[in-house]
Amino acid sequence: MEPKDEFLQALQHSLSAGKFVKLTLSKSGGEDKDFKNVYGRLIELKGEKVLSFTLRYATRDVTKNHSVAEGTAMVGLWVGHDFLNADLFTTEADLSLQYNRKRKPRLFRRKASQQAAPVQQHDKKKQYFISAQGNAYLHAMGISSASGKVRADGQRKFRQINKYIEIVDSLLQQHGQFPEQPHIVDMGSGKGYLTFALYDHLVNNRKLQPSVTGIELRQNLVDFCNELAPKAGFTGLSFRAQDIFDYQPERIDMLIALHACDIATDIAIAKGVRAGAEIIIVAPCCHKQVRKSMQPPAELKPVLRHGILQERQAELVTDGLRALLMEEQGYETKVFEFVSTEHTPKNLMIVGIKGKANPEARQQAEQLKQDFGVQEHYLETLLLE
Ligand SMILES: C[S@@+](CC[C@H](N)C(=O)[O-])C[C@H]1O[C@@H](n2cnc3c(N)ncnc32)[C@H](O)[C@@H]1O
Repeated sequence: MEPKDEFLQALQHSLSAGKFVKLTLSKSGGEDKDFKNVYGRLIELKGEKVLSFTLRYATRDVTKNHSVAEGTAMVGLWVGHDFLNADLFTTEADLSLQYNRKRKPRLFRRKASQQAAPVQQHDKKKQYFISAQGNAYLHAMGISSASGKVRADGQRKFRQINKYIEIVDSLLQQHGQFPEQPHIVDMGSGKGYLTFALYDHLVNNRKLQPSVTGIELRQNLVDFCNELAPKAGFTGLSFRAQDIFDYQPERIDMLIALHACDIATDIAIAKGVRAGAEIIIVAPCCHKQVRKSMQPPAELKPVLRHGILQERQAELVTDGLRALLMEEQGYETKVFEFVSTEHTPKNLMIVGIKGKANPEARQQAEQLKQDFGVQEHYLETLLLE
């Protein structure tokens, strides 16, 4: 099959199977050089699913909505003519159709970078997993007012909470056999926003009977959360003031560590792996350990003399290795953006669902370490103990 036909078929399939995430057309190739990009997303308009395109011109954006069939046909007209790159993101795979100078197309298929297939409600209010109405804990945390309205300065956190719950929910669906009474540990739970919301979702939306434990170094935050949990009626939620390094879990079904600093993320992953967690979710924070132990190849020196680029390189190597080390331990991993960078620059999420081990992971990790002169990756050290 021609690469373009294969791409269009994947687009059609993702739309009909509810797996479409977004579409981007770039690299202008037509006569109108001002026609820069097309961004496609799926929205619901008066109960109908519609492909909504933003047509970006040099000086303005134009929005066009088309039925799914019409929209797919439009993409067929644009691709290879007006645009020489087409990127399709689905929850199954990322596809990239690229035309070279001779307009010969090639199709690249990669692991999916996106978890959820959003259909935005265009004519209705957005439905959230966690509602601000009637949730005392959101009020106590300063996110909503006493009347259940999200405060102006709580909007960002409220959206972040809901995005996080959306991701967890989709992981539970993918897993399929998550226990009815799961043991969940949130390492580095901080003020507990996400821990409370997770408990709320699992009990009130998913009808599970979880036991959720937040582990947090700071005693004042633990006290705050332990006082709030019974007030919210969350009997299975509790917090412990402890270094996660010293925490010895008996059983963990889901391990969470969001924005836990540097090697705290590694400690959390290792604890999850050792305890046989079915699902591991981490959003790494800083990457000092690998940065200090990394001696990148000489050809990268002119790039990495800039501190910020060295930091990004350390992030890539640290998190890439984390995913490989998890794969070696029998987890199928995904690495993707958690919330958009406008909410927080620390927005990368690594998730692992227990499945088949990647037999090449060890060798790939070794190679990567060698290439970047990584003397030690703390997660590896912990897993080897
Ligand atoms: C940036 S906050 C994130 C809080 C929360 N997970 C979130 O995403 O909203 C990181 C938290 O991890 C805690 N922390 C860092 N290292 C820790 C450790 N070794 N043991 C327990 N808690 C730790 C810090 O005290 C801090 O409250």
